[in-house]
Amino acid sequence: MRVLSRAPAKVILVGEHFVVHGGRALALSVDLWATAVAEPGSRLSLESEDPPGSCGDGECAPHLRPLYAMLEEVAADNPRAVGSYRLRSDIPRARGLGSSAAAAVALAAAALALAEGVAPRDEVYRYAMTSERIIHGNPSGVDPAASTYGGAILYSRAEGMRRLSVAEGELTICCGASPRSTASMVEQVSQFRRSREGLFEALLSSSTDLVALASERLESGDLASVAAIMRWHQGALRILGVSSPELEAYVAAMEASGLASKLTGAGGGGCAVGLGTPRGELRCSAPIIMRVRYPAGGVEVWTPS
Ligand code: MEV
Repeated sequence: MRVLSRAPAKVILVGEHFVVHGGRALALSVDLWATAVAEPGSRLSLESEDPPGSCGDGECAPHLRPLYAMLEEVAADNPRAVGSYRLRSDIPRARGLGSSAAAAVALAAAALALAEGVAPRDEVYRYAMTSERIIHGNPSGVDPAASTYGGAILYSRAEGMRRLSVAEGELTICCGASPRSTASMVEQVSQFRRSREGLFEALLSSSTDLVALASERLESGDLASVAAIMRWHQGALRILGVSSPELEAYVAAMEASGLASKLTGAGGGGCAVGLGTPRGELRCSAPIIMRVRYPAGGVEVWTPS
């Protein structure tokens, strides 16, 4: 039996970083995918096309270790998950679009389906969190939630996930050439919180309210209010120190073509998102420019005959 699975990328429209500290995030799953193929075998192995690398027989490419550790955990719980796994992804890696979570979700779903014939989404999410914890220590859980359940979600650690009912739409994305570390950006914000607690708490409390409002307004189609709340968050993320000259240039280019824009994900490099599609020419100097659609579906599994 061969099992195939796929899981979507996500874009955090507003609330990244604050969600790590108990705030809320509004995340959209988008139509970029990580795909996994699993086949039963006598030993566990993982091979990735992009970035290339493999794990098995006691050796593992460093960037694949968290994913392999997660597969080992699934296999420890259910030995029928032992087999060979292949991963490919069209999500730019380590740029804030949830590539690591989507890879973990696709592999967890493939492993569960191989072992049990089904991949219940709550279990997929639980295993994907194993990998996310290894990668960045203190994940809020929003990335694997968006990738597992799909759609548009309002998420917080305390309240969990609420599905939003939103009309389909497009986002413009400009991404830099180099991957960056979510763990170090999350740590940088924690340092900001320790050194300027009063300011951080005021931003966190405003963000928490504004993200809830953005969710309501996205549901009612009031994109002008969503745009204003995105701009507020870009200012707040700049204050937290997670923007960069490169990201500011991408945001300015999108704003110049009529799109509300902000960085998305952990920042420090990576991608900026624009709400909608540009009017006229987009003068974004980014090496990766994409147009994506939201909301995408969540993780899917199928067994070709
Ligand atoms: C990363 O996509 C989003 C962050 O808020 C981290 C997290 O929520 O785990 C920066």
